[in-house]
Amino acid sequence: PFILSIAGGGSTYTPGIVKSLMVQLEAFPLAEIRLYDIDEARQSTIAPVVEKVIRDHSQSIKFTVTSNAETALSGAHFVFAQMRVGQYKMREQDEKIPLRHGVVGQETCGPGGLAYGLRTILPMVELIDLVERYADKKAWIVNYSNPAAIVAEGVRRLRPKARVLNICDMPVAAMRNMGAILGVDRHKLEVDYFGLNHFGWFTQVRVDGEDRLPALREHIARFGLLTEDASQTDPQHADPSWVKTWRNIKPIMDHFPEYLPNPYLQYYLMPNEIVAHQDPDHTRANEVMDGREKKLFAAAQEYKRSGILPDAFHVGVHGAFIVDVACSLAFDLRQRHLVIVENKGAIANLPYDAMVEVPAYITSEGPEPVRMGAVPLFHQTLLMQQLASEQLLVEATIEGSYEKALQAFTLNKTVPTMQHAKAILDEMIEANRDYWPAL
Ligand code: G6P
Ligand code: MN
Repeated sequence: PFILSIAGGGSTYTPGIVKSLMVQLEAFPLAEIRLYDIDEARQSTIAPVVEKVIRDHSQSIKFTVTSNAETALSGAHFVFAQMRVGQYKMREQDEKIPLRHGVVGQETCGPGGLAYGLRTILPMVELIDLVERYADKKAWIVNYSNPAAIVAEGVRRLRPKARVLNICDMPVAAMRNMGAILGVDRHKLEVDYFGLNHFGWFTQVRVDGEDRLPALREHIARFGLLTEDASQTDPQHADPSWVKTWRNIKPIMDHFPEYLPNPYLQYYLMPNEIVAHQDPDHTRANEVMDGREKKLFAAAQEYKRSGILPDAFHVGVHGAFIVDVACSLAFDLRQRHLVIVENKGAIANLPYDAMVEVPAYITSEGPEPVRMGAVPLFHQTLLMQQLASEQLLVEATIEGSYEKALQAFTLNKTVPTMQHAKAILDEMIEANRDYWPAL
């Protein structure tokens, strides 16, 4: 049985991930679960909830809660990383600063994502070094920490040999919705997909070898990537803002019907419309703080008071996916999953060393990307621009370069002019004083 550490133990996602682990204990046997967070107060609020989830399924799994790296990581076989540097307070800034300039305010897309990248790359590298120092020599870090595309590129540049697999639940969440639309269990879908994280396209959706994209195309033209009654998304993606996000697949496919876009492409392809519908004083960070976070804290309090744990969290693709990936790594299952991986020719007309999101077979030595071939000029160009923006941001972080940061912001497709880029960057430097390297 494995020792698993969850870095970012105080996250609102932790109970859901642990619940998924409990459901899959037979496939992924555990001796110990350790929660590790630098915010002790937050983590100790959530820990009793997590412990209850474990004890409902197992009396024998050891449970440890710590802010000490050595205690957290010693001998660990797996580390699930989900750090949020600056927490929701800084997510709020990432979203609100660009919006004040009429630019998309989003956690991972546009200037918000770039700002978040500047905060996260170096702490992620610190975690990798701690894992290397204390954990089992064959330990894998399975990393959900955002902005995943930038984090992956930063890790590739700074710790190229690290056993880190960067993942995102958005493609598999899209597949959950596809499965519901087609009336097929999502595990029966086999997809082709190319892109960068939060910036890619499904090119085929096969069920028993037959491409069902044509059927999905027809459905999406009417309802977006949702069943007619919008019943299929699990609670993580069911808030009204997420329902709107799934519906916005429709206008994109109305214009470019060939491939099925990752929902995040709407921030790049229709930014004006997105901004027009965003409230600059109340963004997604506020929704999450008032919703998911409040609910979990209230449940923790209720549990402390009455010993009864309200069902304030859920198992969905987010938890299920990271456990599936870990199983495939642990037992060399060679399952096919969409993950973020060094290109190595998988997308023939993108750079060999770009960190791309494609299907890969997950072996115990890591992902083996599947060849997706060359992509059309339109998509290649969008991808190259986004890749350049993200790579410049990574270089800005490593070199402390203001000019490269400004180039990264200017190249981002959500940002209309150099002047917008500079105004936003300068405000973000102020807001991120405690987090960014000096530029
Ligand atoms: C999806 C994405 C994640 C992102 C999350 C935000 O799951 O794949 O990268 O962090 O959505 O969801 P939230 O509910 O926090 O806005
Ligand atoms: Mn993601």
